[in-house]
Amino acid sequence: MAHIIKVCMGSSCFARGNAKNLQIIQNFLEQHDIEAEVELSGLRCCNQCAAGPNITIDEVTYHGVDSGTLLDILEKVFQKKE
Ligand code: FES
Repeated sequence: MAHIIKVCMGSSCFARGNAKNLQIIQNFLEQHDIEAEVELSGLRCCNQCAAGPNITIDEVTYHGVDSGTLLDILEKVFQKKE
């Protein structure tokens, strides 16, 4: 089943971490060769800037996502452990 990842690209989330987070997601998908299983898209500001950076994966929205928590989330969602 395909997964859907939506990264908030509004200026607040983008500046506070999602620019880097997007890169991390792309690297993760590439490394595990699962790009075809994932629909990755950017969102405009979803009015939750204070809680950002915000990333939604399969209908679950994660707040305050930094590079460390992002990897944990991706490993959990895709059940990949290094
Ligand atoms: S910029 Fe992401 S919620 Fe506003």
